[in-house]
Amino acid sequence: MSAPNQNPDLAEARRQRSLQQQEQIARLRIRMGKIKHKIAVISGKGGVGKSTVTVNLAAALAKTGMSVGILDADIHGPSVPRLLGLTGAQVKMGPPGVFPVPGPLGMKIISIDFFLAEEVPTIWRGPLKMGAIRQFLQDIVWGDLDVLLIDLPPGTGDEPLTIAQFLPEMDGVIVVTMPSELSSTIVKKAITFAVRLNMPIIGVVENMSGFICPHCGIKTDIFPADGGRKMAKQEGVEFLGSIPIDPKVGVGADQGKPFMIEQENSAAANAFNEVVEKVEAYLKQREQRGKPDA
Ligand SMILES: Nc1ncnc2c1ncn2[C@@H]1O[C@H](COP(=O)(O)OP(=O)(O)OP(=O)(O)O)[C@@H](O)[C@H]1O
Ligand SMILES: [Mg+2]
Repeated sequence: MSAPNQNPDLAEARRQRSLQQQEQIARLRIRMGKIKHKIAVISGKGGVGKSTVTVNLAAALAKTGMSVGILDADIHGPSVPRLLGLTGAQVKMGPPGVFPVPGPLGMKIISIDFFLAEEVPTIWRGPLKMGAIRQFLQDIVWGDLDVLLIDLPPGTGDEPLTIAQFLPEMDGVIVVTMPSELSSTIVKKAITFAVRLNMPIIGVVENMSGFICPHCGIKTDIFPADGGRKMAKQEGVEFLGSIPIDPKVGVGADQGKPFMIEQENSAAANAFNEVVEKVEAYLKQREQRGKPDA
């Protein structure tokens, strides 16, 4: 019932908007209800390897037979299409909604890049970015998935907040860091951020940890070794493993070929197997316990 003296047109417009919002939320819940596990990949700052971890974890899980989706929630700097050799791909639309782009190993991929012409920067403020991410969750025909991996931009801005708001059932976050970050408060901020948003922490991955010489194969620790493990212990979170600096990672990235698919015997892939095993174990545990932290 409208309040006395309230403009009836305004009241009707509000009612319509509220119905529309309820319908959108219901659609989002139905779409997301078909996805068993949702994992976000975050970091305190840029360039530490979030997207590299996301696509390689996705590939490794897909290789075990899981159905995997990747949501590239980095609106200003989407890099998942490039890392998977999907640059220039465009989404297809149909009556049920927008279909993700098919990637290697049957993975389903969504990125803002698939909606825009190449080379067009997204100059969007918060509400537009939040709207895009909400639509990625509510209007994309993900279908039944075992895991949806969400690659987030660095820091604690609109994108992770939107994800936390619309996905309260998140299974957990993986925090990616590199040795030079470890002594600073940046990683701890990322961990505190996830905790405040009630997102369980799966663990920390230390990337670019030591350099493997491509000629002799010997690993040289450029920064003090084992900082990630020590920091994880201090913070009371799991240490998932470390990935060395491996030139093959960069080459694979430029060619759109994740090392977990194309360089299975590389130093990076061998090290990354530990991370994959721990994530699989975490998901199994969540299933057995009926997702207690959600
Ligand atoms: N272990 C590694 N060895 C060698 N190169 C790596 C390694 N990990 C990542 N890189 C390279 O470092 C660069 C940054 O990696 P990536 O794009 O995954 O970081 P990011 O955290 O997602 O960055 P952004 O914050 O911009 O989203 C890329 O060129 C990638 O190929
Ligand atoms: Mg990235």
